[in-house]
Amino acid sequence: MKISEKTSKIINQDMKIMSSTTRCPYFPLVVDRAKGIYVTDIEGNTFIDMMSSAAVMNTGHNHERIVKAINKQVNKFIHYTPAYMYHTPHTELAELLIDITPGSFEKKVAFGLSGSSSVDGAIKAAKAYTGRNRIISFLRSYHGTTVGALSVSGYGPEMKRKVGNLMEDVHFTPYPDSYRGYTQDECIARLHELLETVVPAEEVAAIIYEPIQGDAGILIPENKFYTELEKIARENGILLIADEVQTGFGRTGSMFASELFDIQPDIIVMGKAIASGMPLSAMVGRKEVMEGWSAPVHWFNTAGNVISCAAAVETINVIKEEGLLDNAKKIGSYITNRLRNMMKEHEMIGDVRGKGLLIGVDIVADRDTKERDKKSTAKLCWRAWEKGMILAFFSSNVLRIEPPLSMTMDEAEKAVDILEEAMYDVENGLVSDSVLANIKGW
Ligand SMILES: Cc1ncc(COP(=O)(O)O)c(C=O)c1O
Repeated sequence: MKISEKTSKIINQDMKIMSSTTRCPYFPLVVDRAKGIYVTDIEGNTFIDMMSSAAVMNTGHNHERIVKAINKQVNKFIHYTPAYMYHTPHTELAELLIDITPGSFEKKVAFGLSGSSSVDGAIKAAKAYTGRNRIISFLRSYHGTTVGALSVSGYGPEMKRKVGNLMEDVHFTPYPDSYRGYTQDECIARLHELLETVVPAEEVAAIIYEPIQGDAGILIPENKFYTELEKIARENGILLIADEVQTGFGRTGSMFASELFDIQPDIIVMGKAIASGMPLSAMVGRKEVMEGWSAPVHWFNTAGNVISCAAAVETINVIKEEGLLDNAKKIGSYITNRLRNMMKEHEMIGDVRGKGLLIGVDIVADRDTKERDKKSTAKLCWRAWEKGMILAFFSSNVLRIEPPLSMTMDEAEKAVDILEEAMYDVENGLVSDSVLANIKGW
């Protein structure tokens, strides 16, 4: 695809003045506008958005009802800090969140600004309530970039290089990966071993986990893993923190992925899609856990901003009233089945994993060795972009299929057609190595 001077100018200027930490570049796409599953760049090219701006735009871009709710609120007032005063959308949203989160116990809510800030909140709440200091997390997990969230992330050494001391007393253990890693039983055995050899269980405040590991490449444990994990936690007075920043708000076809398993987290952390792109995150936890600390140990001036809260209330209404959970299941199973059928013809697809519209396609150099093929993955995404589709990858070789939950069957068909065309092109050597200098990915 030709990149005009207009686009190059913006990108070059951005690169000159923005810190290198702020972006893992995919394509030279400068967004101008977006609607539904489509994004249009400043050149006038329109793309199917297969990643919903990193699983944030679950209701689709600029959903009419959400735009209306935002506009209505903007005309009333833009902000007054809920740290000192009250506003209706704040209280209304907290009530709704208590209602839609799993767990048949009394709950309370605290808002944050990003998923990471609420991960930090959950860690602080767990430590304050239990009076314990240690946290157990999982290898390959991604929980964000604030100091606390970074400390409990097991994604890769790049994230922790050169940033100095992080939070102490964080212990990592393997997460089930039925394709190329540990089995459920091995993971439970390793957790027992960790508690027997290194970590006194009575000093552990919480185990933090993604119900389905997202950035690790969509790893989906079996129910048995969660029943065992809950048993270990309950026997030792350890709290369970479910990080649903990526899996929440209908992404898996359930409002929260925790509903897919027999486990009741004590705290659920949410962000990303909560307010359809307006900045907001939240933690919803057992009442007593959320009362184990005092103000102002976890507040932020603009957390619970009134426009974000109004957008979040309407986001939840839209997900419920427009059948987006059922649609995510229906479209998700169509895409997953088609991708699995494509495995017959395309050796590069090693595995297809998914729940609802949270789908990972594992691209390998060799099906027997399961060697991760980062180059082909990046080329696939580049060619998909050239053909009009935003497609990203994580864990270096897993295609991230996370379109808006409002995607129609025709749109899904078109999207998989584009992916298949890109696959033929990569297999036939039609995408040059030179594109790898541009697309870095994650
Ligand atoms: C599971 C999970 N937790 C936490 C975060 C951090 O969220 P944020 O970038 O909004 O701070 C992310 C972001 O990608 C995530 O996927």
